[in-house]
Amino acid sequence: MSEAKIEAWLEEDREFAPSEAFSAQANAQPSIYDEAAKDPVAWWREQANRVTWDVAPTSTLEWELPNAKWFADGMLNASVSCVDVHVREGRGDRVAFNWVADAEGESRVITYHELYREVCRTANALIELGVKKGDRIAVYMPMIPEAVFAMLAIVRLGAIHSVVFGGFSADALASRILDSDCRFVVTADGAFRRGAATPLKPAVDEALKSCPDVSAVLVVKRTDGAVDWVEGRDHWWHDIVERQSASHEPESFPAETPLFIMYTSGTTAKPKGIFHTTGGYLTQAATTYYYVFDVKPETDVCWTAADIGWITGHSYIVYGPLINGVTQIMYEGLPDSGGRDRWWKIISHYKATILYTAPTTIRTLMKWGHQIPEGYDLSSLRLLGTVGEPINPEAWMWYRKNIGGSRCPIVDTWWQTETGAILCSPLPGITATKPGAAMRALPGISVAVVDDAGNEVGNNSGGYLVVTAPWPSMTRGIWGDPDRFMSTYWARFPGKYFAGDGAKLDAEGDLWLLGRVDDVMNISGHRLSTTEVEHALVGHHAVAEAAVVGASDDTTGQAIVAFVTLKLSADDADKDQAALIEELRAHVASVISPIAKPRQIILTPELPKTRSGKIMRRLLRDVAENRSLGDVTTLTDPTVVNMIAGLMDTSATAED
Ligand code: PRX
Repeated sequence: MSEAKIEAWLEEDREFAPSEAFSAQANAQPSIYDEAAKDPVAWWREQANRVTWDVAPTSTLEWELPNAKWFADGMLNASVSCVDVHVREGRGDRVAFNWVADAEGESRVITYHELYREVCRTANALIELGVKKGDRIAVYMPMIPEAVFAMLAIVRLGAIHSVVFGGFSADALASRILDSDCRFVVTADGAFRRGAATPLKPAVDEALKSCPDVSAVLVVKRTDGAVDWVEGRDHWWHDIVERQSASHEPESFPAETPLFIMYTSGTTAKPKGIFHTTGGYLTQAATTYYYVFDVKPETDVCWTAADIGWITGHSYIVYGPLINGVTQIMYEGLPDSGGRDRWWKIISHYKATILYTAPTTIRTLMKWGHQIPEGYDLSSLRLLGTVGEPINPEAWMWYRKNIGGSRCPIVDTWWQTETGAILCSPLPGITATKPGAAMRALPGISVAVVDDAGNEVGNNSGGYLVVTAPWPSMTRGIWGDPDRFMSTYWARFPGKYFAGDGAKLDAEGDLWLLGRVDDVMNISGHRLSTTEVEHALVGHHAVAEAAVVGASDDTTGQAIVAFVTLKLSADDADKDQAALIEELRAHVASVISPIAKPRQIILTPELPKTRSGKIMRRLLRDVAENRSLGDVTTLTDPTVVNMIAGLMDTSATAED
């Protein structure tokens, strides 16, 4: 959102105070901020009691920048906190997941007791396949319950999952498998999207051609499609998991045992393997879920409408909700699988109470019209959340009125793959919310907005968001690359964690996020680096050079615009430009993922460069967003940008 828009909004001075009825019942009471601020580390130690420990920690924080250890002498098993404890304490009959398939009418109910049995069976199957403590295992799955069984079974054995979003290409999967040396893959033959079966296993087969060390692939049969099979390497889930014993004695691991790796885009072409460890991560995932979503495990029906392949799925479908023992909805399909009213059908059928989704989805639902949700009884909802990108006030207001019936508090939660759990958000029942603002840091968390020199800015000023004290679920690093960890996050402002986001404090000191300040783009809440897309483009034989920028987009937040110069070969000379552009878009989709497809590709004879030869992306961003051009005097040839702006005006914008 632009600063001008925020200003305009603030002038309207709109603020929504919590209702007294909500406040009276809220998990978080106003004293929580002071209690945590008195001694944040001690406060987090208290919160760690939400997790089930075999040996309770006596140590709290050991901090030697950038390396943190939380609760290091504690011993636990992550899957016990999520599953066993509920069965042991008599909550086994509670529904853990109402799983809803892409196809209407297909669903599954999984109680905590069944979840326990499935996790144990899967763990026993993984042992049979040779999985040992510390092994890395890639999980490349659709949104089916087996994805959760696999994740929990992996961590039950002290192994480390690396979930790769099912929309990623074979190349992207291979590079992630190789980077963390995964020896096993859990996948499915295919997935359903809007009623159609799409294959998944061929991408695994393709990826594994360059990953010779993968010894076993466990495959869930989800569709009727035929699959290629490598004898000895590939194993059907139903052959090997279903015959296992439904109990498994969990081992205890030290709190700092790695739990998972999640790859995310940085500013270079190579994604970073952000890794998290057990005790601190679980503590903060559980605590934030409890307070920010105000969950009442006996009565709530919670729906985090995210994919398991992203950090939101890890922290707020798997670990946070399961530790709290809540009942959830897990949905396989798209918002319009079976019709544009699908979400509202699901919410009214299951009487969902809490909905957590991304601004880009809210904007899509908004485009489809308020008449659609109006046809359904959404009165069960009592709290709404958003995550992934700044939410524009219009979408916030639409969400509040049309989905939340003007009665549900909205929590705009700011966090990252690296932070592991929410760091900034209103607390429902306490914070008066402003549409589009993440408001303030949670209890136990210290953030600041600083200027270029690292000094804190005052109210009514903007700068960079930094975190000024360690927190339990902070990433413990980039897998195999401690130097990059230090230089990316800890070098820009000494002593502080640099998040890469611009932020602003309003007149009352409340926090507004302004989007990334680096070369990371945020497309429909998915992180992609400009360099990653540029590399994919340059990998095409017709491309000489490419410059990629993220331009504002009404639905997806940002969209990819690529400026490309060609080295035309004889083959391509005959192609018309539109065909070549389509070929380049398809090429990017196959190298990275369909989410990385540029919205627009501008073929240009030249790119604007400084005299030292650097491409001026800032100017290209101005061109892509149709803004007046900034300073062009440092360019070798200032006329190039005007020429590109002319090309931009006449170029087509892709719809998909
Ligand atoms: O730019 C911020 C944006 O998403 C980035 C983190 O992306 P990722 O690691 O993929 O995690 C997304 C889900 C937690 C941040 O650097 N972001 C996330 N939430 C918000 C946000 N921007 C503004 N407001 C938010 N609530």
